[in-house]
This record gives sequence, C-alpha cells and structure tokens, in this order.
Amino acid sequence: MNDNEVDKNRRRLLVAAAGVMGGVGAGYVATPFILSMHPSERVKAAGAPVEVDIANIKPGELMTVEWRGKPVWILRRDSGMLDDLQKLADELRDPNSEENTQQPTYAKNFNRSLNPEYLVVIGICTHLGCAPTFRPDKAPNDLGSQWKGGFFCPCHGSRYDLAGRVFKGVPAPSNLVVPPHRFITDNRILIGADPEVA
Ligand code: FES
Repeated sequence: MNDNEVDKNRRRLLVAAAGVMGGVGAGYVATPFILSMHPSERVKAAGAPVEVDIANIKPGELMTVEWRGKPVWILRRDSGMLDDLQKLADELRDPNSEENTQQPTYAKNFNRSLNPEYLVVIGICTHLGCAPTFRPDKAPNDLGSQWKGGFFCPCHGSRYDLAGRVFKGVPAPSNLVVPPHRFITDNRILIGADPEVA
C-alpha cells in the first residue's frame, strides 16, 4: 500500500466516524429537550386521555380543562337545569342528538351525556370556531325572557342549551361536540377514552 492509498483509507474512516458522531449529536440534542418537558405536558402533547377530578364542581358550576389543545367543558347540572332540557325540543335543530358526528353513541340522548348530571363537551362553536360563553342566568336582558341558561357565542349570535344542543335560526349548524369520555369513579372522568365494554 502506498502513501496515497493510506491517506484515502484514513479519510474514509474519518468521514464514517463523523457520520456516526453526527447521528449521536442529533440524538443528544433532542433527548434533553423531550426529557425537559413535564410528564403531564408530554402526555398532553401526545393527545393522551386526560384524567380530571370533578369532586369540587358544585351543582350549576362549569369546569374547563384542556384535551388535545382544545377546551373541554364539564358542567354539573342541577335538577332545575335538567328539567329545563326537557322543555326545549321544539326550539332545537337536533334535540335527540341524531347527527352522528357530534357525539359518541353513548351520548346520543336528549341530555347528551353518560351521566345526566354531567355534561362534557368541547367548548368550540360549531359555526366558525369561536369560544361561546357560559350563560346559566335565566331571562337576562341581552338574551331574552325565554332564555333558560345555556351557551352563547358572541361572534355571530349562536345559541346552545345546557346540553350543548344548538337552537334553530342561528348560524351554527350543529350541536357542540361531545368528546369520548368515561367515568373512572363517581368523582373522576377520563377524557379521550370511551367507556370500557363489560
Ligand atoms: S363562531 Fe360562533 S356564532 Fe359564529
């Protein structure tokens, strides 16, 4: 082997070594970034189900949590709210949740929930994606004497009742979306996972 051939072989060896180091280097940079995220952030980033403690929600109160980057509302409905849901059918577009894409089959009922006491919906208007406001107050001046409580979207005036059912005559075309969810215990909900089949 002459000197030239030795040089060529050494160069090949160095290039190969640099390639391996480059790979190691890239991995080395990425790993601390991922590890630096809090475990719950990593779970959220991956879109995993989110477990929520609902023990402190009082009747009539709304809690907002985040799942897959979207606001999810959990409303604990009191008995008066549940009674009012039964009186609204004629004013709603889809009172019995027959439109398939807006909820899982287990929420395909007039109160749109697994447990009538708790409504779980994504808090995004089905018109153009604004954030509706929670308006549990009855007959307020701005919403009229017939208002029994619900969600109002100020962007273009869409209205939903306290089951997330859209009223007729507003721009939003459909009910609010019910995400997959299940009760782990009476006080804990898992959002993003369907009920286990027995
Ligand atoms: S985005 Fe809600 S009414 Fe238009």
